[in-house]
Amino acid sequence: MSDLAALREQTLAAIAAAADEPALEVVRVAALGKKGAISALLATLGKMSPDERRTAGAAINALKDETTEALAARRALLKAAALEARLKAESLDVTLPVRAAGIETGRIHPISQVIDEITAIFADLGFAIAEGPDIESDDYNFTKLNFPPGHPAREMHDTFFFQPDASGERKLLRTHTSPVQVRTMLAQKPPIRVICPGRTYRTDFDQTHTPMFHQVEGLVIDREANLGHLMWLLKEFCKAFFEVKDVNMRFRPSFFPFTSPSVEVDIQCRRSGGEIRFGEGEDWLEILGCGMVHANVLRNCGIDPDEYQGFAWGMGIDRIAMLKYGLPDLRDLFDADLRWIRHYGFRPLDIPSLAAGLTG
Ligand code: DAH
Repeated sequence: MSDLAALREQTLAAIAAAADEPALEVVRVAALGKKGAISALLATLGKMSPDERRTAGAAINALKDETTEALAARRALLKAAALEARLKAESLDVTLPVRAAGIETGRIHPISQVIDEITAIFADLGFAIAEGPDIESDDYNFTKLNFPPGHPAREMHDTFFFQPDASGERKLLRTHTSPVQVRTMLAQKPPIRVICPGRTYRTDFDQTHTPMFHQVEGLVIDREANLGHLMWLLKEFCKAFFEVKDVNMRFRPSFFPFTSPSVEVDIQCRRSGGEIRFGEGEDWLEILGCGMVHANVLRNCGIDPDEYQGFAWGMGIDRIAMLKYGLPDLRDLFDADLRWIRHYGFRPLDIPSLAAGLTG
């Protein structure tokens, strides 16, 4: 039986050492194949006496069963390892960088971004947004705003006029957003609190003027709305827009046909090395015109000036965008240069809000 013990040890060791399935198959054939060592032992049983056969048979069959089981266990192990190795070899690296989606490559124009910033600030202060058409009537652009026919203030507006239509009316491209005041007052009853951002047009072209530009008009009509409210409002706006803690403002008397008194507003700043900083410095920069809405304008728009009063302001959007984002030439804004928009544009999901911060 010591032969049997040696064979057992040798077979089990060979099974354990088999590195892959073909090697294991060689071991199986050597033990249990037709000419295998265990098969050879089984063949000797026929020549034994019944007594010998009983003990030797049991031992050889036990070895056969043990070998079969060890082979099966080893085969299962090698199969699992082979599968593991194959999965590792065939795996895909899904972490490779992907091409940027459109939402990442597109850019929002600084003017659109600034309009969204202005809207976010005034919406937070309870203002609604009003809009009007770019092609406007002379009546809304001038007459109802208290520009009498032939008044020299009309000349200051460098107006683009259309040819008169069949009825003889001569339309124009609005020269300011103030006609939206007229439209709003004709359509709504006070109290009114609106801002009106939009495109405006004048025949002018240099580093700080383009024939098409943008303004935002503001209008508040109520029983007691006054210049003190206007000054507070404009200060709050400038602080929020330029993202500074404090800003000094200067209110200078001026003239507009549609306001009385009329005021121009400058903010204090420092200009150095082509950069402008707000809330400090010795320079003043004009940013808007404003005033108390003229009684004639209220009357022209169906509002009784003995019952209601209000204030309005008009601000150049392109101008404050240039100041805030350091854009040197207004004309670049409308050049449609892809490299410019990639540099100065904003990411589409950087939506300005007072809670999240105006600029992303
Ligand atoms: N409409 C004026 C302009 O384009 C700006 C302006 C000044 C608007 C005073 C106003 C205002 O509402 O009250 O030059």
